[in-house]
Amino acid sequence: MTIYLDNAATTFPKPESVYRAVDRTLRSVGANPGRGGHLMGLEASRLIFEAREVLAGFFGIRDSARIAFTANATEAINLALFGLLRPGDRVVTSTMEHNAVTRPLQVLKERGVAVVKVPADRQGRIDPAAIRAACVEKTRLVVLTHCSNVSGTLQPVEEIGPWCRHQGILFLLDAAQSSGIFPIDVEAMAIDLLAVPGHKGLMGPQGTGLLYVREGLQLSPLIYGGTGNNSHSERPPEQMPERYEAGTLNTPGIAGLRAAVDFIGETGIDRIRAREAELLVHLIDGLKRMSGVEIYGPLAPGGHGGALSINLEGKDPAHVGFALDRDHGIVCRVGLHCAPDAHRTIGTFPRGTVRISPGYFTTHEEIDGLLTAVSTLLKQATV
Ligand code: ALA
Repeated sequence: MTIYLDNAATTFPKPESVYRAVDRTLRSVGANPGRGGHLMGLEASRLIFEAREVLAGFFGIRDSARIAFTANATEAINLALFGLLRPGDRVVTSTMEHNAVTRPLQVLKERGVAVVKVPADRQGRIDPAAIRAACVEKTRLVVLTHCSNVSGTLQPVEEIGPWCRHQGILFLLDAAQSSGIFPIDVEAMAIDLLAVPGHKGLMGPQGTGLLYVREGLQLSPLIYGGTGNNSHSERPPEQMPERYEAGTLNTPGIAGLRAAVDFIGETGIDRIRAREAELLVHLIDGLKRMSGVEIYGPLAPGGHGGALSINLEGKDPAHVGFALDRDHGIVCRVGLHCAPDAHRTIGTFPRGTVRISPGYFTTHEEIDGLLTAVSTLLKQATV
């Protein structure tokens, strides 16, 4: 039996209701939402509308039209950054970002956008005072990850968002590792742009995600094409969500995502969080008892999301990952996790780490399986 500990990449398995919703939609709501006035098309449009409403409620978004569906968080971040920033703008970010943020920012820097990276500490923690200090010059946007996909470090964004709002600086939160695990309220946290994957903590299908855009903010679209309305015009519609949703939507995926968010609502996000924290404590306690294991990031579960990075003394993380998979049936992710800056920050560049990320459906027996496997690998000279 495979032990799946790569939930930071994508959660697996999904709630049963998610599989059922995708299957039901593909079989019986097969029309294209927003295209054609026939009954099946209207049913597909209603499904999308209701999913948008459920997601809006989940993130404290007052108007669900301010949500644009995307294929993943990366697309949402790209839409926010390329849609907003112009040459001469200044952006403040951190050294804990995923390539979904750093790569678009690098392209924008080459086009004349100033990018300031605030260093985090060795635990991967960003100091709000350092963000404030970095914003001394006129700044258009602060963009930060809520929770690191490398060290699991949870960032104090509740302090940063409201401060940015007060200063008239826009705040984009990359919630790739936090949505569905930690409560997010765009109003309380003063988030102007929120990028969310549907397939990680929200437990929906891959190929789903969203960008929330605060009312009053108008971005240029990332892609152009048919939106099912205003077809006479050569220009994209002005209004959301159509402005950012050219082309056919992922209706089955969005149906699955809605079922996933319903599952989280019924289960309770606090219960999900408590379960994940309990698994993390089990994991960290077990690893701390072994000599030869280096654990990165904060160790208290309060400041920690789902991903835990480790290294085994004298062993290449790539070899450890391979041995875990081949000899023990344990799935985790090794290397740089698409976040080289974060590894530079915590001191694990260029080889990276072995990342273990349990999820809501992980069992304590599976954590024990991982601990036994690590202890076996520590004794093997050839790994
Ligand atoms: N960003 C995802 C990860 O950290 C894919 O694995």
